[in-house]
Amino acid sequence: MKEKLLSLKNNAISLILETKSSSELEEIRIQFLGRNGEVTQLLKELPKIPKEERPKIGSLTNEVKNIIEDTIKTRERSLKDTKSQNVPFLDVTEPGIKPPLGHLHLVTQAISEITAIFTQIGFTRVRYPEISWDWYNFTALNFPENHPARDDLETFYLVGDPHGKKGRPMLNVHTSTGQVQHMEHSKPPFKMLNIAKVYRRQIDISHTPVFHQFETLVVGEKISISHLKGVLDYFVKSYFGEERKSRIRPYNFRFTEPSFETDVSCAVCKGTGMIKGEKCRLCKEGWLELGGAGMVHPNVLRAGGIDPEKYTGFASGWGVERVLMMKDGIQIDDLRTLYANDLDFLKQF
Ligand code: PHE
Repeated sequence: MKEKLLSLKNNAISLILETKSSSELEEIRIQFLGRNGEVTQLLKELPKIPKEERPKIGSLTNEVKNIIEDTIKTRERSLKDTKSQNVPFLDVTEPGIKPPLGHLHLVTQAISEITAIFTQIGFTRVRYPEISWDWYNFTALNFPENHPARDDLETFYLVGDPHGKKGRPMLNVHTSTGQVQHMEHSKPPFKMLNIAKVYRRQIDISHTPVFHQFETLVVGEKISISHLKGVLDYFVKSYFGEERKSRIRPYNFRFTEPSFETDVSCAVCKGTGMIKGEKCRLCKEGWLELGGAGMVHPNVLRAGGIDPEKYTGFASGWGVERVLMMKDGIQIDDLRTLYANDLDFLKQF
């Protein structure tokens, strides 16, 4: 039906533009918009279309009808003008036909928004290659040799010779891969923001094998947990809204000590966990998990050539798709929809 409408529209427009007189134009008008015209027939068939599709097809049909009407009017005017002046007429003041405009993908929109929030407080956005080695993904980040995250079941290793010092080549499993790479060529103090694609062997309604993370790394003298909490709070309020709160909870990561999970208060139950006497269905307890963070482990600073006696730092790594979905108003039942290239879905944002 959609294809039929579009080809009908294109056909009508080219016929209209070919007309040489008002009477020819009138014939075309009748052919499409007359009582038995092609568009009128389609409108009559609407009740036969399945109920769910009816509003969409209905509005598309009306849109096509309006476009045809407008094109006829424009043609009418230009035929008249040509006649009165007896020369081919090009009216350069006439409004053009607006091409359909696209927009950035919603993940790209989120990335720009996140970048703007952090650069506002002095972070520098950086990028590192999506392919690196075992060293930056694990070893330099204090992962022991037998850690399960190194498992082939979790990680995409690449076919290729291992690097002499850096080990097996692989697709980055997290943006923390950028931490030591950044330290190697930066002198503290610095505030870096690394936003990138990361890859894990997982796929279901809430996981895609490729997704995006944004990582902060701040290193300097006397950097403490309060800096981490301050930046977390600033991000939560800027991205989700002034009324949202943040909290940190103890957790465990190999590359930070102490480590935290960071949470943001739920928008639906306003952080209470309850709605009208019942448990909030979105968060169940008032908080939604944002992702990991912590104080950079001295071994990681050392691996990056930074003296842990002199400098301390914090890092955080959160999911772009995750914060996007947590922002109120956006509910995506299946995360894979984000990458299905379905225009009907993408056009909503
Ligand atoms: N890299 C961790 C993850 O992917 C998140 C994290 C980043 C934790 C930085 C602590 C510090 O889960």
